[in-house]
Amino acid sequence: MIIIKSEDELQAMREAGRLVAKTHAVVAAAVRPGITTASLDALAEEYILDHGALPAFKGYNGYPSTICVSVNKEVVHGIPGARTLDEGDIASIDIGVVLNGFYGDMARTYPVGKISTEAERLLCVTEKALAKGVAAAVVGNRLSDIGHAVQGFVEAHNLSVVRDFVGHGIGRSMHEAPQIPNFGRPGRGPRLKPGMVLAIEPMVNIGGWEVIVLSDNWTVVTADRSLSAHFEDTVAVTEEGPLILTQA
Ligand code: MF3
Ligand code: CO
Repeated sequence: MIIIKSEDELQAMREAGRLVAKTHAVVAAAVRPGITTASLDALAEEYILDHGALPAFKGYNGYPSTICVSVNKEVVHGIPGARTLDEGDIASIDIGVVLNGFYGDMARTYPVGKISTEAERLLCVTEKALAKGVAAAVVGNRLSDIGHAVQGFVEAHNLSVVRDFVGHGIGRSMHEAPQIPNFGRPGRGPRLKPGMVLAIEPMVNIGGWEVIVLSDNWTVVTADRSLSAHFEDTVAVTEEGPLILTQA
């Protein structure tokens, strides 16, 4: 069952989303060659706690950190640590908070210094693929129209969409129904209704779509070791169209 949020609940989710976006801005400003991923995690955690919220990921299924930092061939769920970011890397940073009982979830892939034109293209296409998915989150569409829009755009640019991880409903839990694949045929699944809130999160690879999980049981990497990017927003379906909650 997909939970419909009231106006008051949407307002609370807006606040959670705003805080995630502001946390992203703080972390993004610190991304540079030489910084450790653990220090980005510490920055995010401090900012979230200072603003009356809690990190959503920390402790979730035993996840040890506030944010995920997934570098280059890493797709999602990279655990922050002593590793430094280097010039030319791309770093996918995923941040979730819970504020006044509501969750917000957002990811962006950031360039570290100057990156290759190939990497730039990957980031550009993935960000636009998220926009295509968001644009399909309109009243009267069906759920699979979102993934279909994402996949069509990505594959038109000769990149591939990860199949093994999906977006999700979000609200008083980080993961609610429905699951939102980033691929598929159009016109399937439930009709989108005002008050649904969806975390839409395409993960896009330069090579094949296949991924594997490393022996830390968290870090997901591309099977062919090609570069991967991840953009995610928390989006409300409204009569006036999709409303991105994760904005500062
Ligand atoms: N944005 C991811 C998600 O929607 C973050 C989960 S990381 C975890 O599932 F550590 F919390 F699992
Ligand atoms: Co998510």
